[in-house]
Amino acid sequence: MTTTETDIQAATGLDELYPVLSRNRFTAGWNKKSRSLWPEPATAMTPQHWRYADARAALAQAGRWIGTDLAERRNLLMFNPVKGNEYDTVNTLVAAYQMIKPGEYARAHRHTPNALRLILEAGPGLFTVVNGVKLPMVAGDVLLTPGRAWHSHFNEGDSDAYWIDVLDVPLVHRLEPMFFEEHADGVQPVTEAPQTHPFRFPMPQTEAALAQSTVVRPGVRRVQLDTLSVMPTMALTWMTLDAGATTGEQQSTASHIYAVTKGHGRFEAAGCVHNWAAGDVFAAPSWAAHTITADDEARIFEISDAPVLRALGFYFDAENRP
Ligand SMILES: [Fe+2]
Repeated sequence: MTTTETDIQAATGLDELYPVLSRNRFTAGWNKKSRSLWPEPATAMTPQHWRYADARAALAQAGRWIGTDLAERRNLLMFNPVKGNEYDTVNTLVAAYQMIKPGEYARAHRHTPNALRLILEAGPGLFTVVNGVKLPMVAGDVLLTPGRAWHSHFNEGDSDAYWIDVLDVPLVHRLEPMFFEEHADGVQPVTEAPQTHPFRFPMPQTEAALAQSTVVRPGVRRVQLDTLSVMPTMALTWMTLDAGATTGEQQSTASHIYAVTKGHGRFEAAGCVHNWAAGDVFAAPSWAAHTITADDEARIFEISDAPVLRALGFYFDAENRP
């Protein structure tokens, strides 16, 4: 008989049995401390709003002390204030503001997480290189860095550049397929500089697509970018709202990050009203009911993990719940 069996048989009641079970990595299902099932989605994460004006001021200030050698890390992560978290914006995605000064570049690397950039401020001379392909970064552009693609960024202009990064790193943390590699040469050679590329979505192209799109609600137009074949974890959607238009209440098992590039308005969620302006980011975690309303003509970029949930049969919304 093993020591464990002896200890089990020596127990005179459940209170003496539990420590023996725990030492042997068993939890008595009738005595566990936390729930494993609940009636509907419940996350500790909460809807949040971050102001670009604050981030921009902080990055400009930090730029005095965070030198060129750390240029690729001169960013501000927007974390959800859950105990122990200093990184995740929502459960699957992280967003960050980044600033690159004139003459700086972010060294080449690659990783399994997928990434995208939404350019907020850029002068001529700002570009990214993805797998050797040189692509300009212009304000309003969305640029993709699919997982495992080499990428580096350069500011050869004369003004500070600001953008928003969104990555699926938290999802990778949870599923654990993380691989990361620095480029041995620091920078990658440029092999092509095409006029158009499936990894770049220039704002004029987006504006044309939005103008031709159907109105999904009064005053609201949406266009989803064609990215799922190269970045299957995130749905990327541009949205315009006329002055006074509203999305109506949205609630789904997907998590959402929204980045504003034009206009002002309100983000209402969890009993709070957040007033946003161009450059701001706000986020709604899974199942958080939220409403976006524009005060003036607005353009908003939406990133969601809906494709992951749909692929697994876990996508539900308020009208279509189990
Ligand atoms: Fe990266």
